[in-house]
Amino acid sequence: MTHTEGAQTWNRSTAGRWPLVTGGSGGIGRATALGLARLGAHLAITGRDRARAEDAAREIRAVSSGPVDVFVADLSSQSEVRRLADEVLQSLARIDVLVNNVGGYWNTRHVTADGLERTFALNHLAAFLLTSLLLDRLKQIAPARVVTVSSHVQAMGRINFDDLQGERSYSAARAYNQSKLANVLFTYELARRLQGTSVTANALHPGVVRTSFGAEDPGLIQRLFTPLMRLFLKSPAQGAATSIHLAYAPDLEQVTGRYFVGCTPKRSSERSYDKTAAALLWRVSADLGRSEWASDCRGRHSACVSRYSQQLRRGRLVSEFARAFHGSELKERRLLSLPPRSVPQI
Ligand SMILES: NC(=O)c1ccc[n+]([C@@H]2O[C@H](COP(=O)([O-])OP(=O)(O)OC[C@H]3O[C@@H](n4cnc5c(N)ncnc54)[C@H](OP(=O)(O)O)[C@@H]3O)[C@@H](O)[C@H]2O)c1
Repeated sequence: MTHTEGAQTWNRSTAGRWPLVTGGSGGIGRATALGLARLGAHLAITGRDRARAEDAAREIRAVSSGPVDVFVADLSSQSEVRRLADEVLQSLARIDVLVNNVGGYWNTRHVTADGLERTFALNHLAAFLLTSLLLDRLKQIAPARVVTVSSHVQAMGRINFDDLQGERSYSAARAYNQSKLANVLFTYELARRLQGTSVTANALHPGVVRTSFGAEDPGLIQRLFTPLMRLFLKSPAQGAATSIHLAYAPDLEQVTGRYFVGCTPKRSSERSYDKTAAALLWRVSADLGRSEWASDCRGRHSACVSRYSQQLRRGRLVSEFARAFHGSELKERRLLSLPPRSVPQI
């Protein structure tokens, strides 16, 4: 059932819901917020620019029967993510859906206020940190959902633990694909960690959508072809359909740790199911994000990462990491045995 098909049923089940959509000021996030508001929620959006966020809120209020709260923060900065989380926790008694939607693509390498490469910081770390800071509230309110907007390019992504920040060599596509694979690895790991709670975690590909995506720092090819390509892309409302579905569909209440395309669960890339890489990424992210989840590993990620990379290069067993990150849950296995040709074309 899509949100349009089931709008009436959904209206009954969504009354009194409190979703928070990051990047609700533009593109897919704005369309997601509009769609959720039409279904009758107490909606909150984030934007990095007050005027753009308020402009979106005006449009959303016009279709909404419930209130619309606006929060402003530059999510590429970790202190801003923390300030945002504090404000949200103080202002909103409930949050039962967190849509981690913010993301971007930069042709050249940019560094954030924290000294991190911006694609990794904004597309992955911001979602990781914000989720960690809001998770207790989500658990209190549960049933609750964490929905993270990835992309079909997760299938081309590799987590380069040797050069996570693109310091040695930066490619916009590589950085973006890596961040979108990180979204899926994060989602699956979060779902595993939330087992036994009523908080679910799912990721999605929205389709290829006509938005301002990548417009801040476009490459030559993007400049030349985007105007023509835009004619064939999905509208933001079409792009928002899967986020809305994952946020509200009643039949997904128990569904967790899945990747959706076109409102349908699909298999993501083989690499995204690598539990050891997911656990290591979690550790590194917790350390880089100085998150509450980092209490037992602060400052230790460089040694872990460098050892992990050496093992990867040699194709040796990574059982030590598996034991360190998942107790005895993971079996010994070779990471390099993951067959790249089995990556699905979605
Ligand atoms: N468009 C596609 O074809 C496509 C395909 C696959 C996946 N996706 C994913 O979909 C998500 C949304 O992309 P989109 O196409 O809607 O992009 P978009 O039109 O560029 O919108 C991005 C949103 O994020 C906000 N944002 C950007 N940088 C920010 C920052 N530093 N701090 C806080 N907010 C920030 C923007 O705020 P402003 O209003 O201030 O700019 C805007 O609200 C991303 O995760 C993207 O990777 C998009």
